[in-house]
Amino acid sequence: MLRLFIAVPVPSEIKKKIVALIAEVGNFRNLADGIRPVPEENWHFTLVFLGYQPESAVPAIKESLDNVLRLNINNKFTRLNLVKIEFEKLTYGPPGKTPRMVWLTVTKETSAALGDLKEAIEQELRRNGVKWQIENRHYQAHLTLARFQAEAAEDLPAIERDFEFSYLTAEVNLMRSNLKRTGAEYEILL
Ligand code: 2AM
Repeated sequence: MLRLFIAVPVPSEIKKKIVALIAEVGNFRNLADGIRPVPEENWHFTLVFLGYQPESAVPAIKESLDNVLRLNINNKFTRLNLVKIEFEKLTYGPPGKTPRMVWLTVTKETSAALGDLKEAIEQELRRNGVKWQIENRHYQAHLTLARFQAEAAEDLPAIERDFEFSYLTAEVNLMRSNLKRTGAEYEILL
């Protein structure tokens, strides 16, 4: 079985800016006990978390992504769905809950655009017979930059910082998560 998820990657120029932002808040040192920063190679926007899937499901997942992301015009496949990713701020997550992560959030418009892409992919996955546990939570696109043991917001230092960068992307990857004792390692399958 493969632990899989579908995600939008972050380009290296943006990653450099995020690294600088994290340095501004002291690289998360002393933010919370036992805080575990997410290494930059693992930064991404999850669209669909598929959980454990048999290897035999990969062709159907590929077909679903192809159907949503490529348009056949005159026998040429063209990328569709250029999405503008507009960041908003560094904050604790998840929203409205006891903080246990550091998130980099995006604007409502970006979250809605990624949410539409997520829904289109999910519809194709269902049509192609892929089965997974559907999330009922409201989708809020984000990058997780660090994780820690849940701690009351009032016991945590203020962290909010605006981060007003943006990029355009048409990239969506099928990612494999390999859980190791040292943390998750992600691998791009498609
Ligand atoms: P997170 O960053 O908010 O934790 C790989 O685990 C990716 O899938 C992570 O980005 C994670 O989001 C996301 N994800 C969504 N639902 C998940 C789940 N039930 N278990 C693990 N990861 C999940």
